[in-house]
Amino acid sequence: MPTKHPSPSSRNDDQAGEMPKALEGERVDSMIEGVLPPRKQVKTPIDLRNVMRYFPSAVTVVTSALDTGELFGLTVSAFISVSLEPPLVLISIRNESTAKDLLIKSGKYCVNILSATQQDIAVKFSLTGEAGRFLGLDYYIGKNGNPIIRNCIGYLDCRITQVIPAGDHTLFLAEVVDLFGQKKEPLLYVDREYVRLENRID
Ligand SMILES: Cc1cc2nc3c(=O)[nH]c(=O)nc-3n(C[C@H](O)[C@H](O)[C@H](O)COP(=O)(O)O)c2cc1C
Repeated sequence: MPTKHPSPSSRNDDQAGEMPKALEGERVDSMIEGVLPPRKQVKTPIDLRNVMRYFPSAVTVVTSALDTGELFGLTVSAFISVSLEPPLVLISIRNESTAKDLLIKSGKYCVNILSATQQDIAVKFSLTGEAGRFLGLDYYIGKNGNPIIRNCIGYLDCRITQVIPAGDHTLFLAEVVDLFGQKKEPLLYVDREYVRLENRID
């Protein structure tokens, strides 16, 4: 006879932490009928977002330019340093973003790391369909042809070396060709809010 409550060992293959009430009920009912339900996958975009929202990140604006002179850019937190020798970085861009095809066309981008005083820039470059992102922005065109935003913590001007499809995003691996950095307070994003570093751990 199946027991009404699953034993602790039958929970081992579930996610750590408490089982959601609905799932617990579902499993108990199925066990009464003698059939184990298919294992719940925690793979929907909603589930992943609901964990990743608590993962704090720095905020960048990725800028680029086409040969026609058209400038484009968007707010990006999915940015990592990949290799020091050669110097490689990576950004992850949503396939639905207009920037995805433009980046493939331009073959280059500049990662501008925003400071705590540049939240307005982050907001502007993340609004869907915002045409005038560069209007009123303090920037200049760097050696590589990309817009470089002034007063940032730093920038990494890059040449794209590999475009890697990755589910509903595309990864752009790139070699850094020019860079600059200075110590400033960073702009951070966590739990869908822009925040500042309040305390440093010495
Ligand atoms: C803090 C923050 C971080 C973001 N990070 C990314 C990211 O890493 N990749 C991405 O594709 N979109 C990211 N976005 C969303 C884009 O900035 C947003 O979808 C933008 O409107 C895309 O512009 P586009 O469609 O003109 O390319 C982020 C938005 C915010 C507010």
